[in-house]
Amino acid sequence: QSNAMWGGRFAAGPDAIMEAINASIGFDKRLYAQDIEGSRAHAAMLAAQGILTDKDAHAIREGLLTVLSEIDSGAFDFSATLEDIHMNVEARLKALIGEAAGRLHTARSRNDQVATDFRLWVRDQCDAADAGLVALCRALLAQAEAGADWVMPGFTHLQTAQPVTWGHHMLAYVEMFSRDLGRFRDARARMNECPLGAAALAGTSFPIDREATARALGFDRPMANSLDAVSDRDFALEFLSAASICAVHLSRMAEELVIWASAQFRFVALSDRFSTGSSIMPQKKNPDAAELIRAKIGRILGAQVALFTVMKGLPLAYSKDMQEDKEQVFDAADHLMLALAAMEGMVRDMTANVPALEAAASSGFSTATDLADWLVRELDLPFREAHHVTGALVALAEAKGCDLPDLSLEEMRGVHDGIREDVFGVLGVHNSVASRVSYGGTAPERVREQVVRWKEALG
Ligand code: ARG
Repeated sequence: QSNAMWGGRFAAGPDAIMEAINASIGFDKRLYAQDIEGSRAHAAMLAAQGILTDKDAHAIREGLLTVLSEIDSGAFDFSATLEDIHMNVEARLKALIGEAAGRLHTARSRNDQVATDFRLWVRDQCDAADAGLVALCRALLAQAEAGADWVMPGFTHLQTAQPVTWGHHMLAYVEMFSRDLGRFRDARARMNECPLGAAALAGTSFPIDREATARALGFDRPMANSLDAVSDRDFALEFLSAASICAVHLSRMAEELVIWASAQFRFVALSDRFSTGSSIMPQKKNPDAAELIRAKIGRILGAQVALFTVMKGLPLAYSKDMQEDKEQVFDAADHLMLALAAMEGMVRDMTANVPALEAAASSGFSTATDLADWLVRELDLPFREAHHVTGALVALAEAKGCDLPDLSLEEMRGVHDGIREDVFGVLGVHNSVASRVSYGGTAPERVREQVVRWKEALG
């Protein structure tokens, strides 16, 4: 038996394999609310334009609400023979209200319908990412505020570099995640145009009002070119791109938490709520959430690569290839939101080990740069020479198995006889961070200013 929706020119129905490869209902049922919202807006517009009678439009709009509640409650029977969410909803509408249901598809195609549904869905995900990122930034700000003057080692090459403040490190992530926030907001603004009314590809001869449907669905305006409207998925690519960058940021932070929570570092204690145990080693407290967040970039970037590859080389306008867009975006969005929520929880709950941070900051010759700067400032050495003198002092301390402040003045003067007692003032880590007052620097006063700025910015 041929397809009830498009089978007019067909004598036979599809092969079972054809049906299996063609059906998208298994995943695009997730678009049901957007599909119904779009159809209700379309029906209202058709009636307002005199294309549908008020009576039919009313029956359609009420019937669609019934379908919505059936799907919401789990009572709806999805059919693979009906291919996708669009035809499943329409078929059920027909069963509920009869012939009038067949008038809903006037001046519309599944091509503009799916483009509209998917845009609405991705737009919601931009908002969800927005909320998740704001919550995460607030958690980071709380940590930054508490530890504006806690000292920890800053690293390059994961080797001790210079002391920094805990608050400064937290704020580095606030900067990164807030740029992610900006990317999702930009993407949302750019995607907020309505494809509905593009019909199959060329527009329609019916006197539709695309401004009205765009407005009803919360879009800023209708898309200006019907071919473009049904052809592109750049809004999804842009979402995935923003998601991938965000997932990279999450992964880097997660990696730091894994390292920091290790017995060798002991920089932080993660809460029980965001840790797991081992079934064999009773002592274990594993940072599984951080590890999983670290890994999410794999599937999120995977989704991005998959959709870029699907879209590449597609001729205008719609091709069925584009049905392969949704699962990638669904999966990436689900896992991004989960990762954001888990990171927020971990950051909120984690306890910095302030003495361990300070001890680590004080080791590894972390104030060698401060010493070199002192030689430049106080003894007027060229920086290159100061660097060399400091290097010799580090070598001396290393040979003695001590840190720079543990060298005696005599030992120091053995390397450079201009060195004076007050050099010890710059060798302490608190003095070191306090001196980094340049804009964007790690000094506690700069950190506090940034915390204030971010609190205002995030509202
Ligand atoms: N299920 C389809 C998709 O996700 C809907 C659009 C179908 N359009 C078509 N001309 N067959 O892309």
